[in-house]
Amino acid sequence: MRAFGSLDGGGAEPYLSAMAIREILTAPDPRLREKSRPVETVDDGVRALMDDMLETMYKAPGIGLAAIQVGVPLRIVVMDLAGEGEDKKPMFFVNPTVSDQSEESSLYEEGCLSVPEFFEEVERPSRCRVSFLDYHGRPQVLEAEGLLATCIQHEMDHLEGVLFIDRLSRLKRERILKRIKKEQRLAAE
Ligand code: NI
Repeated sequence: MRAFGSLDGGGAEPYLSAMAIREILTAPDPRLREKSRPVETVDDGVRALMDDMLETMYKAPGIGLAAIQVGVPLRIVVMDLAGEGEDKKPMFFVNPTVSDQSEESSLYEEGCLSVPEFFEEVERPSRCRVSFLDYHGRPQVLEAEGLLATCIQHEMDHLEGVLFIDRLSRLKRERILKRIKKEQRLAAE
């Protein structure tokens, strides 16, 4: 997910230097429609992927990234909701599941690194519980609300091949896709 108005590039810290920036797929790339499969073991390979995803997300910049957005169909999400000027707070979710979504919903202006430059209000449950494995493969449970709840639910959608524009009206979605295609055409010229 991309935060509205976020301009901080980040990602230049020396401790990130061993990681690699990966290419972020953009709509309408069909790979973004794939359903991701569970991770069997959180091993060094999975951790290396998460490190790359984090660096790629910071560089973009974004606040959440699912593995399928870098072309890897595994149920992995990285996020960092720290505000500008705050210390980084990376979060890693392997095989996340969401439960106990509140009936109460909230509207948040969402963006997505795979749908660059578009921001639209999306309605989602305000609160939810997230169960997942952390960076070390340990089971964790998190009660999420506010931006955290919005972001994790946005990223969970990616694991099912769903983009936030799918939650908009058909008219809005088609308008956005048309403009993306036009920009991709111009960029290719
Ligand atoms: Ni996204």
